[in-house]
Amino acid sequence: MDEWTKHDLLDLQELSKKEIEKILETAKSFKQVSTRDVKKVPALRGKTVVMLFFEPSTRTRISFELAAKRLSADTINISASTSSLTKGETIVDTAKNIEAMNVNAIIVRHSCAGVPKVLAEALEPSIINAGDGCRAHPTQALLDMFTIKERLGRIEGLKIGIVGDILHSRVARSNIWGLTKLGAEVTLCGPSTLMPVGIEDHGVRVTYDLNEVIENSDVMMMLRIQKERQNNIYLPSLAEYAKHFGINKSKLKKKKSNLLIMHPGPTNRGVEISGEIADGESSIILDQVTNGVAIRMSVLYLLLGTKESLT
Ligand code: CP
Repeated sequence: MDEWTKHDLLDLQELSKKEIEKILETAKSFKQVSTRDVKKVPALRGKTVVMLFFEPSTRTRISFELAAKRLSADTINISASTSSLTKGETIVDTAKNIEAMNVNAIIVRHSCAGVPKVLAEALEPSIINAGDGCRAHPTQALLDMFTIKERLGRIEGLKIGIVGDILHSRVARSNIWGLTKLGAEVTLCGPSTLMPVGIEDHGVRVTYDLNEVIENSDVMMMLRIQKERQNNIYLPSLAEYAKHFGINKSKLKKKKSNLLIMHPGPTNRGVEISGEIADGESSIILDQVTNGVAIRMSVLYLLLGTKESLT
């Protein structure tokens, strides 16, 4: 791939396989910056990056901020609860006021699907989707793919199980788009009430048998039950869910030892994953978090940087 041409990052559906591979490749060269004594390169000196989060976040917000700072950009954090949004200003008006201060990128998380797209259509700065409702979380899927590739050397041909609340998961959707583009065989597993109708049309398999996923997968991604997005009763109880779809040592006993366990976080220990598995040797959950900084550096650099700025 020659030149990077995209101005925004809204989801992985809009990226080609080559563009996804370019982000992963660029992240490789940025990963070592975070291991240096001086964790900084001047790639985005003079650029301003705004974090506009309307939903709670630990990993995504902090790693975007670290990524921008390690590229020498200036960063501003805006919390919706302390902004003029509470006085009735619309999101677009708030964002246009931020734009008027000559910022270069706005990273947005919102509970409504489509908010990043609306802002991208209305504003000049690059818009990066940090999670919109149940729809997309592109940088999470990119860091997941980076972590798998780092561990196993490839994505193509791997068998990847995504287990849990698929219906409400933006992480699952973005991973389905990204992993299938890169040639993985993706199997979804979870309660039938939390499985989107027609999801097989996106090139994935569906099973309701967790043991089948455990036996056949190279990698399993465990998802949290998203209680904050559920208005209806989808499950008899969390204990019932844990019994059928949670993983623990005894369920993984028969599996070959090289199964990798991932989780985007935050984890609900004892529900979708037991503490001993989350902290165990097959877990690469904290590698995902580490790699999130490199992936977000890569995304910011490709969207905002120039060829000459990487040193
Ligand atoms: N994985 C993820 O998006 O975590 P946060 O909600 O903490 O950002």
